[in-house]
Amino acid sequence: MFDLIDKLEKERRLDKNEFIMLLSNLTPQVMNELTTRAQRCAVERFGRKVFVRGLIEISNICRNNCLYCGIRRSNSNLERYRLTPQQIIDCCEQGHNAGFRTFVLQGGENRTMSTSEICDLVRNIKAQFPDSAVTLSLGEWEYEDYAAFRAAGADRYLLRHESATEEHYARLHPAEMSWTHRMDSLRQLRELGFQTGCGMMIGSPFQTVEHLANDLMFIQEFKPQMIGVGPFIAQSETPFAEYPNGSMEQTIAVVAICRLLHPSALIPSTTALGSIAPEGRTRGILAGANVVMPNLSPQEVRSKYAIYDHKLASHAEAVEGLKLLAAQLATIDYQISFERGDYSDK
Ligand code: 5AD
Repeated sequence: MFDLIDKLEKERRLDKNEFIMLLSNLTPQVMNELTTRAQRCAVERFGRKVFVRGLIEISNICRNNCLYCGIRRSNSNLERYRLTPQQIIDCCEQGHNAGFRTFVLQGGENRTMSTSEICDLVRNIKAQFPDSAVTLSLGEWEYEDYAAFRAAGADRYLLRHESATEEHYARLHPAEMSWTHRMDSLRQLRELGFQTGCGMMIGSPFQTVEHLANDLMFIQEFKPQMIGVGPFIAQSETPFAEYPNGSMEQTIAVVAICRLLHPSALIPSTTALGSIAPEGRTRGILAGANVVMPNLSPQEVRSKYAIYDHKLASHAEAVEGLKLLAAQLATIDYQISFERGDYSDK
């Protein structure tokens, strides 16, 4: 297996069968070798620094019905909310005072806020905080909408591809959702000049190592500026309530492989990773992740953004817990960086 890890590190690519082989042999020795090299790769590029992004969950209203997600439209056991533009600006202000220079507006897919309202919001945030980046994570729209968001000043867009295997995508999503539209959206976002993020859950129902190999082949080819990877976590109000959670080890391995594939990518140690085990966040960083996204949403809506069960939304995961986050990072000799942290492949 070490020859494959060598190849991955030197050539920054593997064949599909090699990914399958590697993912099927995650022994402690292989894990150790992968994470050691991935961490070294990240430290060479970024130092022992982790970028922070302020996450604002602007609405949990969603027209989609993804089988894994707790804010799916069929979940009638959830109080729905949407923040007003002013509330969102207030969150940014609080975050900016705390030092954040990236704001991630994330929300369910809905049209309660129109394209032009979102554009106004982006323009206002950029006018008020000109030194900050705005990242949108608002699901799928059409090319004209993405173009309008970009023209309004949005810098980055996160849209997990969820699965690069159409058949697997179709088992995670209802028939009305189109894998092709999602993959096309990613290419359009990139073409429009967004720093673009894709990603997938690890250990989602029906996922095989072959599916994961397809995801890694896609990442290798698409070279997204950002890669979001976290374990699947069952949510009690979804059809996947009884499925097992994704494993920490497999998630860590995929984070490390992504780092070795794409040394300059921005890779978060995700909230989902921190939610399955207390040491998840730091393990992600020690496997090459270099971003964390503390929650800037108002306290009273946080529990409503229930995409999965037992989601962390306080302490080191939240703006008021920055000191705690810094202390956690200090235990592994890392520091928070408040830089904007744009993608650069220089
Ligand atoms: N477990 C883990 N991640 C989830 N997401 C949605 N539901 C879950 C879940 N049950 C992820 C999806 C989505 C992102 C916002 O959160 O990958 O793209």
